[in-house]
Amino acid sequence: MISQETIEQMMQSLKEMKAAKEQEIEEQRVKWLGKKGEITRLFEEFRTVSPELKKEYGQKLNALKVAAQQRIDAMREELSQIIEATKPASDLTMPGDVMELGSRHPISITREEIISIFRKFGYSVAEGPEIEDDWHVFSALNFPPEHPARDMQDTFFVSPGGDNPILLRTHTSSVQVRTMERSDLPIRVICPGRVFRNEAISARAHCIFHQVEGLYIDKNVSFADLKQAILLFAREMFGPDTQIRMRPSYFPFTEPSAEVDVSCNICHGKGCNICKGTGWLEILGCGMVDPNVLRASGIDPEVYSGFAFGMGIERIAMLKWQVKDLRHYFENDLRFLREFETVV
Ligand code: DAH
Repeated sequence: MISQETIEQMMQSLKEMKAAKEQEIEEQRVKWLGKKGEITRLFEEFRTVSPELKKEYGQKLNALKVAAQQRIDAMREELSQIIEATKPASDLTMPGDVMELGSRHPISITREEIISIFRKFGYSVAEGPEIEDDWHVFSALNFPPEHPARDMQDTFFVSPGGDNPILLRTHTSSVQVRTMERSDLPIRVICPGRVFRNEAISARAHCIFHQVEGLYIDKNVSFADLKQAILLFAREMFGPDTQIRMRPSYFPFTEPSAEVDVSCNICHGKGCNICKGTGWLEILGCGMVDPNVLRASGIDPEVYSGFAFGMGIERIAMLKWQVKDLRHYFENDLRFLREFETVV
């Protein structure tokens, strides 16, 4: 029967209530507050309480119900804190986060390969500034004053005026000049670097690209030495069966000048769409250093001679890996870059 005492006893047992598991808490909730729970039962009995006691019992019963709900909530809270606190700091069975490892860019891979081939032949590496003057990019290399390569359309000028305009180098041949100016003879260097030309970006042209220049100056250097150096390079780079052919060409800084093709390593001369059916792929320009160029840097052409060559790193990389669009090198699309992850 509902009474002061029962309510107080129940209040007391609520305070002492304990549960170690979620299931036990739920059992307690059903026991007190469920449809057939003890507090629910008291509310039913409450209907029979005499009118003068209704107010007092009503308040007590409500307080009891609120206390029961609070105690159950508090037990839930305590339990979840205990679970949280006793959980291991991390689940050691979880799979680890994938650590994205970077890999070398195909242009870097190709540059390093070119350098390492020429290192074996006794060449050292020389570098020069990307922001250059007209003297080192054009004049000292025997470009006539009206030569179209100096034109605004080709060259990015930094400060166009004066006798010796400042510009972004359009080729790494400028490093030849700097090396000749400052080095003792003989000279045997390769000069890798970035070059800039005011060109519209397309599958075959870009305004920024990379070149490697080579220069060898000594007494009695001949065209035969040049041919041999290029042949050895081509075979190291594209495989031991590679053939080369030289076609006469013109550069202001070399005389005679040639362009070099390698035999197509895809169709082996049969003709494919990479070599456009010719069986040959152009890889570089070269020649014997023009006496005017030697003289401009204070080297006596009567005593010394030399050869030079220049190649585009993008082009070599395109031929090596059959990359059809130059823009891939500059867009940093991971799908492209990941293709080179396994190249060592
Ligand atoms: N500088 C030339 C270019 O940018 C490439 C080149 C051709 C370099 C012949 C040379 C050379 O040293 O002898 O297209």
